[in-house]
Amino acid sequence: MSLTCLQESLRDLPGDAPEAVVSGNFVQFCLLEALGFQSREICPQYDTGNGAVDYAVRQNIDGDVFLNSRSNPYLLVELKGRDVSLNQGSAGYKRTVEQLKRYLLGSHCKTVKWGIITNSDHIQLFRKHGRVIHPATTCLEITAENVDQIVALVKGKIEQPIRALTVATYNNKGGVGKTTTTANLAAILTLLEKKVLVVDCDPNQQDLTSSLGMGLIEGEVYEALTNRSANLQAAIKPFSVSYRTLGKDFEFDVIAADRKFSNGGTTDGDFIDEVQLRQQIKPDRLGRILEPLKSEYDYILLDAPPNWRIFSQLAIYAADVVLMPTKHNNLFSLENAALAIKEFIPEAQKVRDDGSPIALPIFFNGEKTTPPQLSAAQQEITNILKQAKKDGFDLLPYFYPRYTNSKKDLHIFEVPSYANIASAAFSRIPATYRDKTARDYYLALAKEYFLQ
Ligand SMILES: Nc1ncnc2c1ncn2[C@@H]1O[C@H](COP(=O)(O)OP(=O)(O)O)[C@@H](O)[C@H]1O
Ligand SMILES: [Mg+2]
Repeated sequence: MSLTCLQESLRDLPGDAPEAVVSGNFVQFCLLEALGFQSREICPQYDTGNGAVDYAVRQNIDGDVFLNSRSNPYLLVELKGRDVSLNQGSAGYKRTVEQLKRYLLGSHCKTVKWGIITNSDHIQLFRKHGRVIHPATTCLEITAENVDQIVALVKGKIEQPIRALTVATYNNKGGVGKTTTTANLAAILTLLEKKVLVVDCDPNQQDLTSSLGMGLIEGEVYEALTNRSANLQAAIKPFSVSYRTLGKDFEFDVIAADRKFSNGGTTDGDFIDEVQLRQQIKPDRLGRILEPLKSEYDYILLDAPPNWRIFSQLAIYAADVVLMPTKHNNLFSLENAALAIKEFIPEAQKVRDDGSPIALPIFFNGEKTTPPQLSAAQQEITNILKQAKKDGFDLLPYFYPRYTNSKKDLHIFEVPSYANIASAAFSRIPATYRDKTARDYYLALAKEYFLQ
């Protein structure tokens, strides 16, 4: 049987092939072609606006030849020689991922949906959605035996980009602002013309549902989670605001809490406890049933409860990224964020097998911050980072995303305390729709984390 181009090039590559050889023999003439790109669809040394990436590619459309126009790139490839290890967790791996992320966020790369790192021993695909970059595969080892299969997997993903980013709001401490953040993030994204679905994954408290003045679901979510043939469509209800000062109507979709799951909803006597639920529902089930909805929305926001039981697990296992509100003056909320990053999120990653979900950097929510309080919080964070390091985790990027070796920036994003944010829950409309200051706060949040 004759070898494919990929198999042959891997077989012939020397074990210490430098970058130029990996580039010519493996990437340019085999990998990119196998991914579906012809020579005039490939730009080497593409100026991302944040430095030159090894390759940018995009399919030609009508008369627009990418090699000539260099406009609207679709996928970036940052490659290394075999002398740089891309073993997940190695220094070379971390550096290369950081480099790819920098390029993906370059000003010429707004249209880019995917990034690949490879040294011909390993390959990993990342997805880009706005500002968010998260893994779409784990870092896979490639050999002449498995390369065709792995490249086919990557090709399948890049040929079918998914519209929605799925975000779980989580901290296993209560009262830190998960629900408030979810509702206001939905509102601001809607104002920015994004199509949004929010899901109340906390059927015991039902705070999201009640803060929007929506009724409970009567069993449809339970059906979809437990019955193979059911889907979530029947559980989706619109939340709409007609707001004169904003000049038009705004709407996002909501899957409210299901009465069938609620402690308080025992009137019909069929409340189901955690043990029973675990027998009926696998923690990755919500992710599966959200799948068909991902082509309908730009964002799917999941409001998780404060614990690590079945409903938080459903939310985290379904998410691409996890947004974690904390309070600078509450040590537990900071420790809980660290615990989620060290234990809960990796647990979900193991089951998912595509390298996601990942945590977004924490933010401080809803408290006044004075300089002495801030330095007390920094001291706590220093302790948390030290302890994590002992356990083999580098949590620095999740607490201080702007910290670099050359610039020791301790900035943590903050949604300030604001009375009109708190009171809005009583009027059943997210503060973002009613109040300019709240709108500015959540616009800043959306820009910090989600929008490019
Ligand atoms: N930025 C803020 N400013 C003022 N109050 C806030 C802010 N964020 C949240 N709150 C209030 O804090 C309380 C807890 O918020 P909530 O979103 O319900 O937390 P969680 O979902 O984590 O339990 C609520 O009363 C909410 O209105
Ligand atoms: Mg809540």
